[in-house]
Amino acid sequence: MNVDGKPYRSIWLNDDGVSVDVIDQTRLPHAFEILNLRSLDDSCVAIADMVVRGAPLIGATAAYGFYLAMRQDASDSAMLSAYEALNATRPTAVNLRWALDRMRSALTRVPAQSRVEHALAEAAAVAELDVEINQGIGRHGLELIRRIAADKPPGDAINILTHCNAGWLATVDWGTATAPIYMAHDAGIPLHVWVDETRPRNQGASLTAWELGHHGVPHSLIVDNAGGHLMQHGMVDLCLVGSDRTTRSGDVCNKIGTYLKALAAFDNAVPFYVCLPGTTIDWEIGDGLRQIPIEQRDGLEVSRVHGRLADGSIGSVSIAPEATPVVNYAFDVTPAKLVSGLITERGIVEASEATLAEAFPEHPRHR
Ligand code: MRU
Repeated sequence: MNVDGKPYRSIWLNDDGVSVDVIDQTRLPHAFEILNLRSLDDSCVAIADMVVRGAPLIGATAAYGFYLAMRQDASDSAMLSAYEALNATRPTAVNLRWALDRMRSALTRVPAQSRVEHALAEAAAVAELDVEINQGIGRHGLELIRRIAADKPPGDAINILTHCNAGWLATVDWGTATAPIYMAHDAGIPLHVWVDETRPRNQGASLTAWELGHHGVPHSLIVDNAGGHLMQHGMVDLCLVGSDRTTRSGDVCNKIGTYLKALAAFDNAVPFYVCLPGTTIDWEIGDGLRQIPIEQRDGLEVSRVHGRLADGSIGSVSIAPEATPVVNYAFDVTPAKLVSGLITERGIVEASEATLAEAFPEHPRHR
């Protein structure tokens, strides 16, 4: 998508043809800075410290990280250590494991001396696939938005609520929840996005608001607790969120607070759709509440707020007593029964085991 009129993806091969560039998302929206990754270690730190984040981009970064690891050592044992190091960076987004499995299986088949070249091609294919998938999600989501627009008075904007950043910054391009929004906006359908700030790291305020603004999509930032009120007053026509891991039965794990939005949407008969690539489905898991590992992060993310300070520098300020114990769960699970539908690259499907299996017949169903 565009940044100041220049098209960007969130990850790309540097002009040196060797190293990998990413946008440093810890600096947004205050500074647009590119970070250069040259090693396995750089890639692990970038994912763990959330320089890059969002399920699909975590997967793509892991794939490029695997390639960078092969440049350092392409032996079988190095492949194993690279897999383990990258897989340990963040526990919830399943695209990480998907991308690493894909890299390992492609590279196991080739001799060590050709692994670097194959790893680069495979990582580029992972990134390219993500872009195609998100365009597919966008096309199917656009049809849904068109149907909702048809029920509104002509010219009235559709109000869409989104949580966290499921935008192009969370993927390689287009985003998942934002792909239908960008396509609808580009097609001239009037819309307005309610952007949840998404405490504690404020990915909505710092990233979603930033990217929607750069594309010219009308939006307003709201506190996380405002969604229920807006829905009660008919100010939300549609909720679109992303997913970090979806079970084969359609339970959706996404950024903490997603579940509360789904509850409010259910109570107010607001359609609640989850936009997700097939790569985000964990076919091994049927029970999201009990089986998805929920990342717990540093309490400082809650007790401090990060932003631009009065002197222009980027830093954080404390908002709680220093000694207050903090608990920081990063994700929650929305049960399938609260989900109106899953918008995938294969179409919009009901959040159920039967319909997911029908849409993705190539995946064996695990019991
Ligand atoms: O902790 P993050 O910022 O990686 O969490 C990201 C989200 O929860 C997104 O909504 C999710 O990855 C789906 S988006 C493509």
